Amino acid sequence: LAAAGDSRLGSEGLSAGGRASIPKNGTYRPQEVLLVCKDKFVESNTYHAQGGVATAIFNDDSPALHATDTMAAGHGLCDRTAVDILTDEGARRVRELIGDGWHVDRDSEGHVLRGLEAAHCRSRVVHAGGDATGKVLELDVSAMVRENPNITVLEHAFLNDVLVRDGHVAGVRLAVRDAQDGVETRVVDTDRVVLATGGAGRLFPYTTNPAVATGDGLAAAIRAGAQVADLEFYQFHPTALAIGEHFLVSEAVRGEGAVLLDEHGHRFMADIDPKAELAPRDVVARANFRTMQAQGGKPIMLDVSPMGKENPDLAEFLRHRFPTIDAYTRSLGFDWSKEPIPVAPAAHYWMGGIRTDLFGRASIPGLYAAGECARTGVQGANRLASNSLLEGMVYGYRAGLAAANDTDGTVWQPQDFDNSAIENMPVCQQPMLLHMPDATTQPNVAQSLAWDRARIEDVMWKHVGVIRDGDSLSQGVRELGEALSMANAADSADMSKTIVQPTTYAERIIMWENRNLLTVGYVAAVAASNRCESRGAHTRQDYPTNNPTIAHSIAYQMS
Ligand code: SIN
Repeated sequence: LAAAGDSRLGSEGLSAGGRASIPKNGTYRPQEVLLVCKDKFVESNTYHAQGGVATAIFNDDSPALHATDTMAAGHGLCDRTAVDILTDEGARRVRELIGDGWHVDRDSEGHVLRGLEAAHCRSRVVHAGGDATGKVLELDVSAMVRENPNITVLEHAFLNDVLVRDGHVAGVRLAVRDAQDGVETRVVDTDRVVLATGGAGRLFPYTTNPAVATGDGLAAAIRAGAQVADLEFYQFHPTALAIGEHFLVSEAVRGEGAVLLDEHGHRFMADIDPKAELAPRDVVARANFRTMQAQGGKPIMLDVSPMGKENPDLAEFLRHRFPTIDAYTRSLGFDWSKEPIPVAPAAHYWMGGIRTDLFGRASIPGLYAAGECARTGVQGANRLASNSLLEGMVYGYRAGLAAANDTDGTVWQPQDFDNSAIENMPVCQQPMLLHMPDATTQPNVAQSLAWDRARIEDVMWKHVGVIRDGDSLSQGVRELGEALSMANAADSADMSKTIVQPTTYAERIIMWENRNLLTVGYVAAVAASNRCESRGAHTRQDYPTNNPTIAHSIAYQMS
């Protein structure tokens, strides 16, 4: 049995589960797969992805050009082999999926349409449903998975822990919603687990991520003793709607010509970078954040009127090209064809994650990771726009292949891939033993429960946010560490008998999610505090320049 995913299933979970279960020309061993989802089957970051999938499938493009853009955006921390695999196999995976029935957008003659996004030298972003790429992908691929007799889907089941025995994965402990909306503990014995659990945007008060994005798989991996890497690199998207739910306003909107204005109507990005609004995402997010600070917190205005030059009926163009954003902004009373809309940076994507090799293998035998929860080496210090679904497809597929075919301590070597990719797995430098705070012996339980979500978000935004500095990071480490020790105590067997536990599935998982957020937030704060430079998405006021001698950070919990 290979169990894939935990909290929810995005492109990587579906790719991993699908690949682990299907023999390819009889070459691979199909497995029984249990897909475990915290919420409904399709709820995930992938489902909410708008812009698209970057892929070199067009005649004027090549995987090498796409790799060059990916490496440049990553500010020296991408691994070249991993990136070449991403762009080369990515084109294959996208073609395959389109062939299998993924409904991408096409022109009237049936040619696949493509968009431009920041820091890409070519228009190469394939989209679906206009700006509903992730939703269409999830619905199409989950339908394929549902038809697969080797895959069982378990919804509303929360991953409490990855179980490890004698240094090898032995299973997972789940909390499954029962018929009375309570919680039933279930242990699944399995020697292979693929974590496809996404990111943790819910660490921050302003995020494009859905409520399920609470870092559950990453936290479980840390507790199990797996190595994690580069967690100081967290990407903030430059343009989320500055009111309400911080709804994503896709980079594809700037790709079509929209510009950013300050409170005086000045197009400030033209002063900051030659590529202006299409500079890499970290550059634009930082510029928006600083401009907002300078204008007393007032939001940036996103002006789509330049698109009117080529699209005289701008309202109709926006409705057709960006139906999701159009409907959402109109529901809030904006007509963006006539007036600029307020936007601000929001937490979006984690570049760091569970350290894996090029087949998703984590540092604990039997544990695999794919997608946002993994650190495969393709995202570096700043992810290139629309490379995340691509990573899910490519490395989810690879993790599924390896999980299905690694047996009893034998690491499977594929015949039809270049083995040198595995042998040359990049070795990170500067390993860091992580002293996770112990559960306090005398926890003030009331205080521990008072560590509610709003407080975690507040500490993360203030101390581990878009722009950081040493003193503030130290305070973040201290506050998150204290809270984590209380959350660990509240969850320990002794304390859980003496405190009143919430009873419904929804209430229980909020408590566990908070502990997971504290776990991953604490490690991110420690990693950010240790990295004394500015690079990509990690910006320090006290160390404003890049230090090329500093490489990757690795952390793992001391047992
Ligand atoms: C967007 O549509 O701007 C988000 C795409 C991405 O995160 O790469």
